[in-house]
Amino acid sequence: MPNITFSSPIHKDKTVYAVAGSFTKTVLTIAQENHIPIDFSCGDGECGTCLVKVTSLEKKGRMAGPLTLKEVDVLKDLHKVTREELEKMYVDDLPVQWRLACQLQVRDEDLLIEYGQEDKVF
Ligand code: FES
Repeated sequence: MPNITFSSPIHKDKTVYAVAGSFTKTVLTIAQENHIPIDFSCGDGECGTCLVKVTSLEKKGRMAGPLTLKEVDVLKDLHKVTREELEKMYVDDLPVQWRLACQLQVRDEDLLIEYGQEDKVF
């Protein structure tokens, strides 16, 4: 079972365990279930409010996860993903660092999720 550690400069870090059935849930849903205050608005990958920085804590390296087209557009608008990073994701199956918590589904890997910066610059 993967551990997901939520970290913020303005809140105490918290690690939760993604139990069976979590793999269909988004990081935002898991955060809400565990009272972790990630900002959000639309909940549908359109506004960018739930932007988080994702780091794998796995020694074997991070799994890539497909971005939705809406997520790609929002991350581009926020200047949080480059064309080169998108190419690496599509061609080499390498993950991008910034994600929208409402779109990111948990997989079988330990993650560090950084959230809660006013200007979203980490
Ligand atoms: Fe709007 Fe996630 S809450 S993009």
